[in-house]
Amino acid sequence: MFETLKAMPPDAILTLIGEHQSDARENKIDLGVGVYRDESGQTPILRAVKKAEQHLLDSQPSKSYLGSGGNPEFNEAIQAITFGGGARADKRVTTVQTPGGSGSLRVAAGLIMRAKPDVALWASDPTWSNHIPLLGGAGLELKSYPYYDTERKDIRFDEMLETLNDMPSGDIVLLHGCCHNPTGMDLSRDQWQTVVDLVVTRDLVPFIDIAYQGFSDGLEEDAYPVRIMFDRVPEMIVSSSCSKNFGLYRDRVGSLSIVAKDSATSGNLRSQTLNIVRTMYSMPPDHGAAVVSHILNNADLRDDWLVELAGMRDRLKEMRALLGAALREKAPDHDFSHIERANGMFSFVGISTEQVERLKSEFAVYMVNSSRINVAGITQGNVEHLASSIAAVL
Ligand code: LMR
Repeated sequence: MFETLKAMPPDAILTLIGEHQSDARENKIDLGVGVYRDESGQTPILRAVKKAEQHLLDSQPSKSYLGSGGNPEFNEAIQAITFGGGARADKRVTTVQTPGGSGSLRVAAGLIMRAKPDVALWASDPTWSNHIPLLGGAGLELKSYPYYDTERKDIRFDEMLETLNDMPSGDIVLLHGCCHNPTGMDLSRDQWQTVVDLVVTRDLVPFIDIAYQGFSDGLEEDAYPVRIMFDRVPEMIVSSSCSKNFGLYRDRVGSLSIVAKDSATSGNLRSQTLNIVRTMYSMPPDHGAAVVSHILNNADLRDDWLVELAGMRDRLKEMRALLGAALREKAPDHDFSHIERANGMFSFVGISTEQVERLKSEFAVYMVNSSRINVAGITQGNVEHLASSIAAVL
């Protein structure tokens, strides 16, 4: 029966990993998949993570099942960093541990399909390239709202508001909590307030994907959109990830939080969520969540982790500035200042697919076709080659 299946087009981001690995050129640069890298090009295991893993190795009493919602201490700790400490007392919020942020998105999509299958979900244009197949694959109807202007290299805020204003009430708006993927362009706090007002008056359901918390301005600061939304709306969905801020990529640690109108609805929602999980993958993997839970519940480890998180955040900012300066020198007739205005891991360079292709084939510089770069792939040692390669294809 399987001969009826045709090959799928390869995933644009994941394909770059293999292409870069098999490139033998010494000066190759990987700006593809969104993983943090240090100055030596490595994706390190954080100190706090190593210590927590050692602690688990020495003291974990059992690896017996925990249940479909995962580790309860992890869920509480994540809820607190996302929604603020007060959320613990709010019986409208329910949180489950998921296999990464992607697992969270997929469980949320399943839940939406059960609750309201004819609702539309609006994603920013552009958005993370896997949002569309991942959420659409669960059966959701997807639409898009304008977000980024490739000419002006800025947010199309007025058009975004117009579209939000025209959405049928009850529709779902997918918003990036911080470090917008792929553009790196985030709403200002004033703009967030305007969006919240509109979401409230138009009776829309916000769905915040916060996969990069701590990579923009700080752990607390980056949660601002979630917090102000939570104060004002009766229902919302939040998908969060520990892949980047804890560097636990392959351990698949994420969470899904859902805010319901009241605690009775929240109970039913939790039961539906656990049922979706049980019938999809039964339970999330424990190791990474146990690590995160130990770090967040141990004052010393938590402080150390916050220092490491700040280190990653500062390096991203530094590398943006470094690339900006190098481009001003190598391509003085072009304006790349948007790269320095962006946040977190990503930015569009703002070049064509053909130019991206030339960068790969002629200069061993790898980035996503849209010209999205992961700024963590930049180092003091490669920025010169990167900037002159970009200048050469302009
Ligand atoms: C990215 O956008 O590169 C990351 O979120 C990794 C992924 O799975 O695509």
